[in-house]
Amino acid sequence: MAKWTAEDLPELSGRTVVITGAGRGLGLITARELARAGARVVLGVRNVGKARDAVAGLPGTFDVRPLDVAELASVRAFAGSWSGPLDVLINNAGVMDVPATRTADGLDRQTATNHTGPFLLTNLLLGHVTDRVVHVTSQLHRLGRIDLADLDWRTREYHGMAAYQASKLAVVLFSLELQRRLTAQGSGVRSVLASPGIARTGLAAQSRSNVINRVKFLTNPPELGALSVLYAATQDVPGNAYVGPDGLAGLRGHPAVGRQSKAGFDGELAGRLWDATAGLVGLGKAGQKPAAR
Ligand SMILES: NC(=O)c1ccc[n+]([C@@H]2O[C@H](COP(=O)([O-])OP(=O)(O)OC[C@H]3O[C@@H](n4cnc5c(N)ncnc54)[C@H](OP(=O)(O)O)[C@@H]3O)[C@@H](O)[C@H]2O)c1
Repeated sequence: MAKWTAEDLPELSGRTVVITGAGRGLGLITARELARAGARVVLGVRNVGKARDAVAGLPGTFDVRPLDVAELASVRAFAGSWSGPLDVLINNAGVMDVPATRTADGLDRQTATNHTGPFLLTNLLLGHVTDRVVHVTSQLHRLGRIDLADLDWRTREYHGMAAYQASKLAVVLFSLELQRRLTAQGSGVRSVLASPGIARTGLAAQSRSNVINRVKFLTNPPELGALSVLYAATQDVPGNAYVGPDGLAGLRGHPAVGRQSKAGFDGELAGRLWDATAGLVGLGKAGQKPAAR
């Protein structure tokens, strides 16, 4: 059977997609292909000027807006200014194995970028979403361990790669719990996971991890990595599906529905993680209605 490629994208005219961190890397390729297929693509980015330059001259409709997903005020401002339907939200922005720093809210920046901020963004935009939320995770979620007592790396010694792996498992568990809540509410909105495999982007720029160095020979061109995100965003997959490359160890190849780790199906942990994350971002307090449990 022919492998799925961006040429197989459906016609997306009339659809609006938000993608975070789309000024470069996999996000930019995803934005470019979705716009080429007809979608109106809203890029939520830290550097608006750079992202505008990146999409200038590309075919399609782009709208570049400021968004730092790690900073809760920025997330609230982006979501608060949204009006009208939003077909697909793609939580793509991410950092890997970066040194320990704190955001303006005092959150661990890597966890805030990969999980905590996207959790808040998703909850604040969810009322507008008509089709699905795509969470970009990683095969490295399989090595992740969630410490609910210290989700935000306050008491443990910080380890950049462990924080990445934990944040990507948190993304997988967030998808599980979000889908559970959506289904319980009778919503047709889907929560879908995308794992790009391993693609040559700027993501590993700060990482000295052995894990990354050992699998470097497996890297794919970024175009191939972005296919999993495009597939997850547009194809008819079940709620909480895990879309990733079909080849060796889920690291190479073309997109197919695979399977997240066993830990990624731990419903009890997912519920407790939701509560802990909501606590970190102040969700559920006055004026913000959390999705029903
Ligand atoms: N490449 C891979 O092999 C691979 C494998 C598994 C998973 N992933 C995941 O795929 C996603 C995209 O990664 P990539 O490979 O494209 O990496 P990349 O080339 O380093 O791009 C990361 C993007 O995220 C943005 N970003 C980082 N922090 C942000 C923040 N606080 N607010 C808004 N945007 C922010 C960056 O924006 P700036 O330009 O402002 O820095 C950049 O556009 C990530 O979630 C990553 O974990 C990638």
